[in-house]
Amino acid sequence: MNTPKAVCFGSVNRDMTYSVPQIVRSGETITSIGLSTAWGGKGLNQAVALAATGVPTALWARTGAHDQEIIEFLSGRGVDVSHITADPQVPTGHALVQLELEGSNCIIIYPGANRTHREEQIDEILRWYSAGDLLIVQNETNLVAEAVEVAASHGLRVAFNPSPLDRDALSVDLDAVDFLFVNEHEATALTSAPGPEAALDCLARRWPRMQTVMTLGGKGSIWRQGEESCAVDAVISEVVDTTGAGDTFAGFFLGSVLRGFPAGRALETASRAASLAIGRKGAAGAIPAGELVGF
Ligand code: RIB
Repeated sequence: MNTPKAVCFGSVNRDMTYSVPQIVRSGETITSIGLSTAWGGKGLNQAVALAATGVPTALWARTGAHDQEIIEFLSGRGVDVSHITADPQVPTGHALVQLELEGSNCIIIYPGANRTHREEQIDEILRWYSAGDLLIVQNETNLVAEAVEVAASHGLRVAFNPSPLDRDALSVDLDAVDFLFVNEHEATALTSAPGPEAALDCLARRWPRMQTVMTLGGKGSIWRQGEESCAVDAVISEVVDTTGAGDTFAGFFLGSVLRGFPAGRALETASRAASLAIGRKGAAGAIPAGELVGF
């Protein structure tokens, strides 16, 4: 059987990472210890991670002026770039990342071209895919709910990561979603449940067909579908930079499932990939090659 194809509808960001002694507080001015710039964006990161598993993966994205550097970076990581379009009228998206010494971060994104997708492009892109293929979306572009609806009506499987969580993310129809990736806060916000476990129960009862993957940082991750569930511990490693760890996890989990792994093995593989990613600085550039986690 051929491996299904994946198309990642998502953001491209230039991540500007400021190393800081601590995240700046309201009213405070601090001096950064260092600045680095590299490619990121949840869509780009997830596409790179998925492609690393050997699944044929395309990134469907918008940038500002044509940027050969992004094209070369993605092509070098095995990502199909034929669905990337440029709009010289708007800047490419960027992210301002504050990175603390022990690896945790906080991020402000400027969407730029990521929020200039046009509705007619949805059919133009999705006609290249058929039933059983996978659409992956996050919430850094416009038209997420619309793309999910069209993909599901064509029989594609849909993976949804509602980050950053806002009103647009809440408008996505979870009846159309096959894989949901959430952290504890997103799960409780999506369900209004009192805590993460109750949120998982709530999601499994209301959408028993949907596979929910909840990442818990250093406490590991949980998979749930209806009454079935499994959990794995986090793989402990040196923490240099957690930017993009969740995207690495999602991409490797989905790639593992598309390659035929059961959920427990997919969680383990995704955890190992994420632990390698957080041992290196940056988002997309820190995502490990598939060979390092058994592909
Ligand atoms: O998930 C990490 C990503 O979030 C970063 O690469 C940054 O671009 C923001 O979109």
